[in-house]
Amino acid sequence: MKSRQSVKSNKVKSELLTEQSVELLKELHLLTPDGHLNADARRKLKQVNHLIQLIQPALNDILERHQNVHVVDVGAGKSYLGFILYDVFFKKNNLCEVTSIETREDLTKKAKVLSEKLGFKMNFLNLKVDEANLDKRVHLLTALHACDTATDDAITMGIKNNADYIALVPCCQAEVAEQLKRIKTADVINELWAQGIHRREFASHLTNVMRCLVLETFGYNVTVTELVGWEHSLKNEFIFAKRVNKENKQAKEKLLSLIEKIPIKPKVLLQLGL
Ligand SMILES: C[S@@+](CC[C@H](N)C(=O)[O-])C[C@H]1O[C@@H](n2cnc3c(N)ncnc32)[C@H](O)[C@@H]1O
Repeated sequence: MKSRQSVKSNKVKSELLTEQSVELLKELHLLTPDGHLNADARRKLKQVNHLIQLIQPALNDILERHQNVHVVDVGAGKSYLGFILYDVFFKKNNLCEVTSIETREDLTKKAKVLSEKLGFKMNFLNLKVDEANLDKRVHLLTALHACDTATDDAITMGIKNNADYIALVPCCQAEVAEQLKRIKTADVINELWAQGIHRREFASHLTNVMRCLVLETFGYNVTVTELVGWEHSLKNEFIFAKRVNKENKQAKEKLLSLIEKIPIKPKVLLQLGL
């Protein structure tokens, strides 16, 4: 089925996760009141559902080890991910909770009203990620398309709060492209970012490589895969980190020698004193 296609209500079930509530998707306006799935909502639902499938083993692991699981979703937007995750995993367990962090007040307010109506244990912080202080242990931190450096803020928050797992799908990246623009060396390596389009793509790639090395430096095991098919989203890199150690000196050395070769510093490095 093509990505831009809508789905009639009688076929919607095949797009959903087991135990996923049609009523919730209607409340979130991802399904129409008649239960149809329009093309835009389908793209979003696919991203969220794929992400949930990819983090399911981590959630199962956390749920086996803890009763009161705390998931933090950063750059939450309309909190689709938080609501759907709660619906699928936590509805039967009123000790688990989700905290959504989002700068847009209108979205935060609406989501809070809906969570109260549904009786979901969700907290909404109408703040910038780097202004938020969490008072509870974080088991899983997620950031789905958190804009630009909000993904760096998410990583810093996850590391500082010793999150067991960190799941990221980075969004656009502008910060490092600006830094690259200012680096002009005689070395042929400069060609990697001499043209604007190359610079944006390379900056985004380099930022994500450095983000992974930062996570490894702080003892996370990192895997990078695709979230959904490229036809569903251009921002498609899924970075998944599991805390296995306190630190990893080799990863730090790799990171520092990469910075020596290309002297740029994404926000996350500055935040964590690297
Ligand atoms: C592209 S949207 C993604 C929303 C949601 N995660 C999703 O996938 O549907 C990014 C969201 O991050 C929010 N945002 C951007 N920078 C932020 C920051 N520093 N702190 C908190 N939220 C931020 C924006 O307001 C926006 O709602």
